[in-house]
Amino acid sequence: MSTRPVPLSIVALCLSGVLGCSGDKPSAPSPSPPTPEPVKPAAKPVPAMVLTATPDGSGVVRITGDDIMKFNVARIEVKAGEKVKLELKHIGKLAKEVMGHNLVVLTAGADTMAFAQAAVGAAESDYIPELGKAQIIAYTKLLGGGESDTIEFDLPGPGEYPFLCSYPGHAALMKGVLVAR
Ligand code: CU
Repeated sequence: MSTRPVPLSIVALCLSGVLGCSGDKPSAPSPSPPTPEPVKPAAKPVPAMVLTATPDGSGVVRITGDDIMKFNVARIEVKAGEKVKLELKHIGKLAKEVMGHNLVVLTAGADTMAFAQAAVGAAESDYIPELGKAQIIAYTKLLGGGESDTIEFDLPGPGEYPFLCSYPGHAALMKGVLVAR
């Protein structure tokens, strides 16, 4: 009952003596294990890593960036109507010339990747492009390892405001959304 049918082509090859066919296992690669157990879905599918930051006791939202091009959060939540205080700390060791990080908050609906593209050529202004300035609500300094910067700003109202690091090539990983409600 558990023996799998041997493909006819292999039987033919056995009969014609092309294959060794010793024993009952065809030497052809067998793609599937015998009688596969029905695959049980994992008890809980692991959600995509969306870590949320909110203001701490001092009212400051603390964000970090590191040497492997990551913010520690992908979502920041604040109360609409309150001033946003946000600290970005570069917890890596690399200099800002090679692993610089900033945090740029854009207007709701702004195109993060288009902004990042415009920023590539703006090295002289620490990757804050003149072209994208109309879309910027606030931004930190460009930081190297061990540095930090704290900014305070107002949002126009409740909404979802994209943020990114505008250092070239970083926005693919270093981006998220600031939610005010
Ligand atoms: Cu960066």
